[in-house]
Parts: sequence; C-alpha cells; structure tokens
Amino acid sequence: MKFTILSLLLPFTSSLSAPTRTLYTYSESARIFTEAKELMPGGVSSPVRAFKSVGGSPIVFDRVKGSKAYDVDGNTYIDYVGTWGPAIIGHADDKVLEEVKKTMDKGTSFGAPCVLENELAKMVIDAVPSVEMVRFTNSGTEACMGMLRLCRAYTSREKIVKFEGCYHGHADSFLVQAGSGVATLGLPDSPGVPASSTKSTLCATYNDVGSVEELLKEGDVAALILEPVVGNSGFIKPTKEFLQGCRDLCDKYGTLLVFDEVMTGFRVAYGGAQAYFGVTPDVTTMGKVIGGGMPVGAYGGRRDIMDLVAPAGPMYQAGTLSGNPLAMTAGIETLKVLKQPGQHDKLEAASKKLVDGILAHAKANGHAATGGYAGGMFGFFFCEGPVTCFADAAKADMEKFGRWHAGMLERGIYLAPSSYEAGFMSLAHTDEDIEKTLEIAGEVMAMI
Ligand SMILES: Cc1ncc(COP(=O)(O)O)c(C=O)c1O
Repeated sequence: MKFTILSLLLPFTSSLSAPTRTLYTYSESARIFTEAKELMPGGVSSPVRAFKSVGGSPIVFDRVKGSKAYDVDGNTYIDYVGTWGPAIIGHADDKVLEEVKKTMDKGTSFGAPCVLENELAKMVIDAVPSVEMVRFTNSGTEACMGMLRLCRAYTSREKIVKFEGCYHGHADSFLVQAGSGVATLGLPDSPGVPASSTKSTLCATYNDVGSVEELLKEGDVAALILEPVVGNSGFIKPTKEFLQGCRDLCDKYGTLLVFDEVMTGFRVAYGGAQAYFGVTPDVTTMGKVIGGGMPVGAYGGRRDIMDLVAPAGPMYQAGTLSGNPLAMTAGIETLKVLKQPGQHDKLEAASKKLVDGILAHAKANGHAATGGYAGGMFGFFFCEGPVTCFADAAKADMEKFGRWHAGMLERGIYLAPSSYEAGFMSLAHTDEDIEKTLEIAGEVMAMI
C-alpha cells in the first residue's frame, strides 16, 4: 500500500487543497518503521525521531551527502536537521571521510592516549574563550553530567539553577522542565527520576535576570547552567543584557556560570555563543559539531576548575571510548573547514535568508509567525512574537506546525519534527537549496 505522511495526519488533512506537484510517498519507510516498533521502544533510538508531535511516521534514511538526505523510498530532501547539528559543513564531507578512513586503518579505538586528542583539544582551547583545558566524552549528556559533578566539587555546593525549556542531556538532575524531547512528548518530567536527584535543581525563566537572582541570592548555588542560545524549546535568542546579567550575578554570589554549548558551540560562531555575545562563562559543555558526526562530547573551562578532574584531581569521570581516534579525526577535519574566514557569516546569511523568507510567506498568508537566527542555527514559531522563554514558545500553534511539517516533507524539505526544535544550516546549503525551500514554503503556507 502506498500512502503519504498527510494520509497519516488524519485530524490535520481536511484543510489541505490538492497538491500542485508530485508528493512523496513513504511505503518502505513505513514498512521498516512498523518492524522497528516491535524491536525498539517507539521504533527509535532517540525519542524526537519518532515524529510524535507532528503525527505520522518517520522517514527512514538510506544515506546523506552535502545538504541532502535520501530515504529508503528513493526520495531526496533538502535537510535542515543535519543529524541534529553536527553536519555543519554538510553531510559526509569528502575530506572528513577520507581522513576518517585513514585513521580507521590504524584502529578504531585505543583506550590509550592518542595524539589526535591533543590536536582537537588545542583547536577547542584556541577557539572557545572560556576553555583552558578540556575533557572529551562520548556525548553531550556525558559532558553535562561531568560538568555538573565538577561544579559541585569546585564549589562544595549542591544546588544548581537551570532554565525552563533548556535541555542538558538526559541525566537525572537535568530532567526538570527540560524542553525538547520531554516537552515534545508532553511529559511533565520523566518517571524514574528519583526526587532526591532533582531536589537540588531549581528552574529560572529564560531572558529574566530577576528570576535568576531570586534563586542565587542565598549564595548556595554551585552552577547556573544555560543554553546560551536556546535550541531545545525551538529557537530562542538571549539578549546580551540577559547573558551579561547572568555573568554578573554568578560573580556576585560565587556561582559558576556554565554555557551548555553542545548545540551552539562552533555553530553560532567559531568560538560558540560566548564569542558571538562576548560573555565568558566559567565552564562550557560541547558536543555535536566537535565530533563532525561521530559520537563526541566535551567539557572544559578555567584551568583551576579543570584541575579537579581525575586523574589530575579527585573529581571522578571516565569513558572507555572517550577521545577515540575516529571521533577526534572527524572533529579536527570539521573544525579545519569551519575555521576558514567568513564561514559563519555565510551560515548566518543563509539562515537569515531562509527565516526572513519563511516569515514573509507566513505573513502573506495571514499566519502569525515569529523567528530568528544566529550563525548556522535558526527557528520560527506559529505565534505572535517575541518569543523570549519557554512559556512563550508553548503558545505556538502546534497543530499548524504539524500541517506545515507534513506539507514541507512531502515536497522534499526535511525539517525537525517538532515546534520545540531549532533548525540547522550547513555550508553545503546552496542559494538554490534555499530558494527551492522558500518556493515550497510559499505553497505550503498557502495550504495550511
Ligand atoms: C544543549 C544540549 N545539551 C546537551 C545535549 C545532549 O547531547 P547528546 O544528545 O549528545 O547526549 C543536547 C542534545 O541535543 C543539547 O542540545
């Protein structure tokens, strides 16, 4: 049986008029996903991939290259998910693959020091203002877990403050009002997280310095942790005053300021959001781009703080595959490309062109919409702006987003399947890609 994503979106389809182009069908994706659901919870290895918040069934990819993704039904998409951020120079870059293949010939994992770790560490330290030393991990979640233990060890305090709608991986202490996947699935927070793990986690409101001071003023908070540009409640930009206010309050109350740059690192600027906004945290977490599509995370910061990490110091954190040569190679080669002058200007110009165009089509068709961008990261919401915090983002029209997503997908544009996710631009996206996307956006905005 052939069927389309729209046919699966039963409640949403009635308002859609007849398509003007041949729409994609997904029978092979549907077959594979049906089987996957028997084998893996929800059919996926990570929840948002399951398309739950937009309805329907996910697309099963066969391969990726440049700005494109190719599915198992033979459909080609212009991809603005970019494997959730890492593919910033484009998928499967020839040079990255060539170097990874050379490294692979020497072995996939050493579990021993490897010179490639030094090379990537130097690149990270050179680029990211707050980082004087770095510890590599295998994921952003691990990096955030390590960072949290480090901040507690350094300050001898337990409490942490995060922001409603910010996501810092799936460690117990962070699964409090955590945006993204948790919000997408409508889970208040995850069952299975012991109350004892979250009792020291307090939540403030993004872009609201007053809400931060309320929580820091007792002087007993180890760390203030934030996404310095939010990507896990949809795209929300901070004001420079908010970031500077967080810096000043942390200095006032002896709290460590942590920028979780797993998403924004090397994406909004080569030096991350801290370089983009000129506000320097004490500790930074990273992931995604620094692994060039391989599993990597990292945390780093001032030398006096990092000196606490074992074996230099007593704060224990470890990893069998951490710093493995394949991931280091993919990261190094990706950063070499990104470091060339003008790359982030190109990314930001492309993000701007796309968002401005989408908003213009929304307006022309009478939809309330607001959006923004920073470097190679962007997003928009179906609601009046401004959106400055999670509560604003939650007011967006999610059903309309579902119709938008399905309409774009069927015409070959792959967007993140949730209004609570950001979009990712790459250096491989061409003007033609963006113009084609906008032409299709115009058609879909007229239909939804
Ligand atoms: C800001 C932020 N922190 C942490 C994480 C967790 O990273 P990972 O999925 O690699 O565990 C993510 C993942 O999207 C993220 O966006």
